[in-house]
Amino acid sequence: MSRLIVVSNRTPGKGPAAGGLAVALRKTLAERDGFWFGWSGRLVDRPDSEAVFEDIEGIKVGKIDLTRDDHHAYYAGFSNSILWPSFHLRLDLATIEGHWYEGYRRVNAQFAQALLPHIAPDDVIWVHDYHMIPLASELRHLGINNRIGFYLHIPFPTVDALYAIPHHNELMRDLSRYDLIGMQANRDVSAFTEFADHQSPSTLSGSPLKSVDFSRTEVAAFPIGSDPEAFARLAVSPAATKMVRRMERALGDQALVLGVDRLDYSKGLPQRVEAYEKLLANNASLRRQVHLLQVAPPSRDTIKEYQETSDTLDAMVGRLMGRFAEPDWQPVTYVKRAYGQPSLAGLYRLARVGLVTPLRDGMNLVAHEYVASQDPHDPGVLVLSRFAGAAEIFEDALLVNPFDTDETAEALRLALNMPIEERRHRWERLMAGAHDHSVDRWAESYLSRLAPTGQNGQPAPVR
Ligand code: G6P
Repeated sequence: MSRLIVVSNRTPGKGPAAGGLAVALRKTLAERDGFWFGWSGRLVDRPDSEAVFEDIEGIKVGKIDLTRDDHHAYYAGFSNSILWPSFHLRLDLATIEGHWYEGYRRVNAQFAQALLPHIAPDDVIWVHDYHMIPLASELRHLGINNRIGFYLHIPFPTVDALYAIPHHNELMRDLSRYDLIGMQANRDVSAFTEFADHQSPSTLSGSPLKSVDFSRTEVAAFPIGSDPEAFARLAVSPAATKMVRRMERALGDQALVLGVDRLDYSKGLPQRVEAYEKLLANNASLRRQVHLLQVAPPSRDTIKEYQETSDTLDAMVGRLMGRFAEPDWQPVTYVKRAYGQPSLAGLYRLARVGLVTPLRDGMNLVAHEYVASQDPHDPGVLVLSRFAGAAEIFEDALLVNPFDTDETAEALRLALNMPIEERRHRWERLMAGAHDHSVDRWAESYLSRLAPTGQNGQPAPVR
């Protein structure tokens, strides 16, 4: 079996996304004697051109340092102020500074240079997410002909939003240097195909770019998932149970509605608070009977748009409290802090409603984890945005349009009143979906498509 190299901005042990992925890929990397490659988390004046390798939680990890300026242009700049908002259809929140693109490319070239000496002829390379779109181009430029796959963890934008991204044609050409592009959902594959079929007619300056040739590239949906068995076990572990007991004491008879999200404008948190406010306004009988816990660890907080989202939410939660709290009752607890997985699993299990209402989301693993953590005899209800990739998997959730806060408020009311038979029936199907789309199957199906023979074979142009 050929060796596997995984590349992503964050490496295991650094940050939430890499944490989940690390769990998923640890086994595969060990089986394939592979390693992970990414940013060290360090900013230095003069980065060493050589990567440093170490063992992190049983995974071999190669890391490079970046300069402060390059990192800013690549991460806070091009990746998270241009690509992230555009791919999430929030062009109003994009900030475009031309020089960020050079930093983005420089960092990708630096990754390619540092990775080069560690690539053997049969290695299969799997690149993750929007920070790394140009990596295959850079590696091909250095003479690497190995199978290289790309997986996009976030949604693929509509054609118009893509055209709003500076250098979108180069980025699409970069994508065409991969052998396999994996997307979260069918809607993303459709959006990509629409671009590939139409292609940008011109550029603002210079001569129009030739259209991009995708004939070597296969594109397909590989929806990511969780490890449902592990989460089910975690939800009844002593650490989770401790959290459950603590919360039961605090809640008394109140039903818990739970949201867990990075503090990101794509997560629809202000809309969620508004929907909850409407629920309380329209259903006086629910006051004192229900409690919203929103866990929202701060994210990318050097970026203005994230600070503004945080301020908006502070104001909205304050307004909600002022309107409905009583000296002896509070409608909401808002925690801007991250919790470990055992505590979260306990909270998921206790929550009568899992409220997952992003405005747009690649997949949303909170939905998977919520489902997996439920008590099969007394499961809670998942209220899920139809704009999360997870909506293609979890059709038995109460699907809502998160922009329509009346609809979300009504779904919350239905969820809180749902009879146990219906809750069980829905949950069984949701759990079957979580099993069918486990993270192990995801990695296996992607990798068997990227390297079908288990070797560095010829690409199969199938799109
Ligand atoms: C999303 C992205 C990941 C990213 C994560 C956390 O899930 O798809 O690539 O790592 O957010 O964001 P951060 O900017 O902290 O890495």
